[in-house]
Amino acid sequence: MYILVWAEDDAGAIGKNGKLPWHLPNDLKFFKTTTNGQTIVMGRKTFESMGNRPLPNRKNYVLTRQNDYEAPGAVVINRLNDLPDEDIYVIGGSEIYKKFLPEADVLIRTKISGTFDGDTFFPEVNWDEWELVEETEGTVDEKNKYAHRFQTFKRK
Ligand SMILES: NC(=O)c1ccc[n+]([C@@H]2O[C@H](COP(=O)([O-])OP(=O)(O)OC[C@H]3O[C@@H](n4cnc5c(N)ncnc54)[C@H](OP(=O)(O)O)[C@@H]3O)[C@@H](O)[C@H]2O)c1
Repeated sequence: MYILVWAEDDAGAIGKNGKLPWHLPNDLKFFKTTTNGQTIVMGRKTFESMGNRPLPNRKNYVLTRQNDYEAPGAVVINRLNDLPDEDIYVIGGSEIYKKFLPEADVLIRTKISGTFDGDTFFPEVNWDEWELVEETEGTVDEKNKYAHRFQTFKRK
C-alpha cells in the first residue's frame, strides 16, 4: 500500500529552492511520528534537500534515474518496481508524488493556511476519489505561527 505524506499551503506549494517554504516544527514532529519505523521513498532531489542524509529509524529508498548514484545509509533504486511489497510512505517531492498518486491508497496532508513563495507544487488531485477520514487542528503558538491541520484521506 502506498501512503503519500506531505505539507502544502493554500495554493498547493510544497517547496521553494529545494527547501520547505515555511518553518513549522509541529509539522516536522507530525511527520516524524507518522513515518517512524516505516519504509519511506523519496526522489533524489528531496534526499539532497535533507543534506544527503537518510532519515533515522526508517528504511530509506531514494529514486533516481542515475545508475551510479550513491546515498550512504539509503537504498538507491531506479524504478518504482524495485520497492519491497510492504507499506510504503511516499515523502516527496513533487515528481515522486505525481508518479505514485494514481496508485496511492492513503493521503496524509498537512494543510497550512496562507500562501508562501513556492516553486514546487503538489500535483492535481481528483478529490472525488478521496474521503476525509480524520482531521486534527494543529496548535498555533510562538514557534508555530501558521494555522495548520492534519488530514487523512482514504481512497473511496
Ligand atoms: N512540503 C512537503 O511535504 C515536501 C516533501 C518533500 C519535498 N518537498 C520539496 O519538494 C522539492 C523537491 O521536489 P522535486 O519534484 O523537485 O524533486 P523530487 O521529486 O524530490 O526528485 C526528483 C528526482 O527523482 C528522480 N525521479 C523522478 N521520477 C523518477 C522515476 N520515474 N524513476 C527514477 N527516478 C525518478 C529524478 O532523479 P535524477 O535527476 O537523479 O534522475 C528526479 O530528478 C523541494 O523543494 C523539497 O523541499 C516538499
